[in-house]
Amino acid sequence: MPGLTIGDPLPNLEVETTHGPIKLHDYVADSFTIIFSHPGDFTPVCTTELGAMAAYADKFSKLGVKLLGLSADDVESHNAWIKDIEAYCNGCKVTYPIAADPHRKIIKELNMVDPDEKDSSGNQVPSRALHIIGPDKRVKLSFLYPASTGRNMDEVVRVVESLQRAAKHKIATPANWKAGDAVVISPGVSTEQAKEMFPQGYKTAHLPSNKPYLRFTNVD
Ligand code: BEZ
Repeated sequence: MPGLTIGDPLPNLEVETTHGPIKLHDYVADSFTIIFSHPGDFTPVCTTELGAMAAYADKFSKLGVKLLGLSADDVESHNAWIKDIEAYCNGCKVTYPIAADPHRKIIKELNMVDPDEKDSSGNQVPSRALHIIGPDKRVKLSFLYPASTGRNMDEVVRVVESLQRAAKHKIATPANWKAGDAVVISPGVSTEQAKEMFPQGYKTAHLPSNKPYLRFTNVD
């Protein structure tokens, strides 16, 4: 994926939003922040996705995570569409800002353009891209989905919870991990370091190689 990707600094762009102008670095401040694009207002999957984000907003807020939507539509369109989203999602409230990028400058800089989708005027539209930005204002994780596939907000919560633990401890989260499950100690941590870093203890899986690299522990 060319352009902005994991580890890159978030460009400090000024964006127009439904909550007024926002400078991206000021908005992130010292929080994990999810910036997610959608192909277009008043389209079916996008309506379900932004409604789902609204329904999950409390969960993200409890995790200290900010949300910012984004598409190539203008603020007037977003504000009109929000009424549909809120009606569709049974009274949920779209409390997060949605940025407007009619000139496609931001979606290009944030690597969110879908090369296969154009609007009715032949203009580029965003894919269903999602960047999770860390408090250091760098990209920690990116999803890139085509217009045909709506995102799973449980997966977004799950990866945030993984990223937040990995930011606090020298750990990684294994396949299908969810909050509360055991995590694995990072491979760069020696046995001596592991004993010191994880006083709660850890269990090493016995593998045919006899290499003690799969070490499970529990962290919050
Ligand atoms: C949708 O949100 O349903 C959609 C938007 C653009 C292309 C295809 C589907």
